[in-house]
Amino acid sequence: VANRVISFARGAPAPECLPAAELADCARAALERDGATALGYGPATGYPPLRNWLAQRHGVAPERILVTNSSLQAFAFLVQHLAAGSRPRVLVEAPTYDRPLKILAAHGADVVALPMDEDGLDPDALERELDAGDASLLYTIPTFQNPSGRTLSLERRRRVAAIAAERGLLVLEDDPYGLVRFEGDALPPLFELEGGERVVYGSSFSKTIAPGLRVGWLVAPEPLAAALAELAVSTYISPVVPTQATVYEFLRRGHFESNLERVRGLLRARRDAMLGALERELPAGATWSEPNGGYFVWVDLAAGIDTRELLTRASAAGVTFVAGTDFFPSGAGGESALRLAYSFVSPEEIAEGIGRFGSLLPEPARRGR
Ligand SMILES: Cc1ncc(COP(=O)(O)O)c(C=O)c1O
Repeated sequence: VANRVISFARGAPAPECLPAAELADCARAALERDGATALGYGPATGYPPLRNWLAQRHGVAPERILVTNSSLQAFAFLVQHLAAGSRPRVLVEAPTYDRPLKILAAHGADVVALPMDEDGLDPDALERELDAGDASLLYTIPTFQNPSGRTLSLERRRRVAAIAAERGLLVLEDDPYGLVRFEGDALPPLFELEGGERVVYGSSFSKTIAPGLRVGWLVAPEPLAAALAELAVSTYISPVVPTQATVYEFLRRGHFESNLERVRGLLRARRDAMLGALERELPAGATWSEPNGGYFVWVDLAAGIDTRELLTRASAAGVTFVAGTDFFPSGAGGESALRLAYSFVSPEEIAEGIGRFGSLLPEPARRGR
């Protein structure tokens, strides 16, 4: 730990989360059993046995499932589809995941920021924006949000689902972290509450098996799934099939639940180390989220502290994070905030890294031990 840079910037799983030996076995078995299919150009909609498995899991017809080279690719297809012909107006949470903001900007979208608090996005603000003008899409991450770690409350889920249904608002529910829950009961997805007509559900195996597989999926109404499949064909002919076949073998062998339980334990220990270290090291006046799952804690330091300037000093001191402004459309907001990912580093490194971080903050206000 001594001199190495400790990264709280990387929203990636620690190497010990990755089930490498099992996946090696599954890859070999998948290619031996079904190599002719898995090594050919697959259907653009994904490896059929995996697509069927996902359809069953979501209780929908397989025609509604599009398996993609992971979920960011599916998001890009959806935005490309919405941007064909006119400039889409897209509502997002503020803060939100930074990569979709870049994809939206690249497609010239009019991006509207919706405020959120500890219970997730504010449904009143959503209604106000819909009164102000039609929207092509609401992009939301209701569970263990990136970057905030926050979860949309049940009451708000019901309201957002009702708004989507009443107003015919298309919603993308991006849910890569929902199964990575450390405690408490899962809340129903918007997709289920609304009935899956206006709410499109997206997820991937990046956080539950391994991100390098690049296997994700969307559940969409059939015409939309078909339109996106057309874009997939003209982008890459077919997604990468061998990793989809490997994932299917992993699922078929019943490894999914046991691996998930193992991953939850590894990440829970990291979340606990992070919250403990923040309590010890951060000054009075700082606030942070307390996630029940996922990868991230969102910290707000006292107003007046510029976290971009702090990042320069932190990097020099051997600890990194992502500054809050990266997660706001046009960088408007989050000046005193930052995202800490506890997923990648060890609990020991978390304690050391937050110690380094805390020592950069104004001394008089520190809580002291
Ligand atoms: C909210 C959210 N959506 C999508 C992704 C992209 O994941 P994938 O590996 O499935 O493309 C991430 C990755 O960090 C994420 O945090």
